[in-house]
Amino acid sequence: ERLFQIAIDGPAAAGKSTVAKIVAKALGFVYIDTGAMYRSLTYKALKTGTDMKNGIKLKELLDVTDIVLKHSEIGQRVFVDGEDVSERIRYPDVTAQVSLVSSFGKVRTEMVRRQRKLAEHCSVVMDGRDIGTHVLPRAQVKIFLKASVDERAVRRFREEELKGLHPSIQALREAIALRDKKDMERTISPLVKAKDAIELDTTSLSVDEVVDRILNIAKERI
Ligand code: C5P
Repeated sequence: ERLFQIAIDGPAAAGKSTVAKIVAKALGFVYIDTGAMYRSLTYKALKTGTDMKNGIKLKELLDVTDIVLKHSEIGQRVFVDGEDVSERIRYPDVTAQVSLVSSFGKVRTEMVRRQRKLAEHCSVVMDGRDIGTHVLPRAQVKIFLKASVDERAVRRFREEELKGLHPSIQALREAIALRDKKDMERTISPLVKAKDAIELDTTSLSVDEVVDRILNIAKERI
């Protein structure tokens, strides 16, 4: 049986993971959140006091770090060396450093190796920044999700409110814009739309509308 791959890339807080999870469930595919993997390494670097400007040290740390993405009825859970870090890896301290940690070639090569391995035996929906361009270049469906930075800040704000937090929209907006800039300007596998990706601007679309569009595109090609 031929394996099917859906790659979803785009800037921070564009709705990639929300949409990817629903699409994966609808098709019975495995959802792989590559951002959670970079966040996991960043968390471990913070915890161990590893110098986040040192790519060699970060790669050595990654080599002794077990990152597991688990799927259950209550959603995805992320484990680092057996510890459930699902919430912890979304905290601002991790978010602020993850673009630096993910900028090193040695770190990326190992992450990409792990990501491809996860997609070896099953059909997947994988989201990130370099999935269509680099991790799964032969994916049958490539989507590039974008939305205005204001809309993305508002969406993130609503998510944080649900967690009982009250961040400033302006601070969220700045953090999102800065992370995008770092992800687009890095030398190794920067955030860029793959030539054969379909661009979807979700600024004025609902989650259901985005999901429907992706499912329609996928069903044409399955
Ligand atoms: O998707 P998420 O916002 O959780 O990703 C966190 C960070 O991880 C991104 O801002 C980016 O720096 C890095 N990342 C990456 N390549 C990926 C996925 C995420 O560099 N494929």
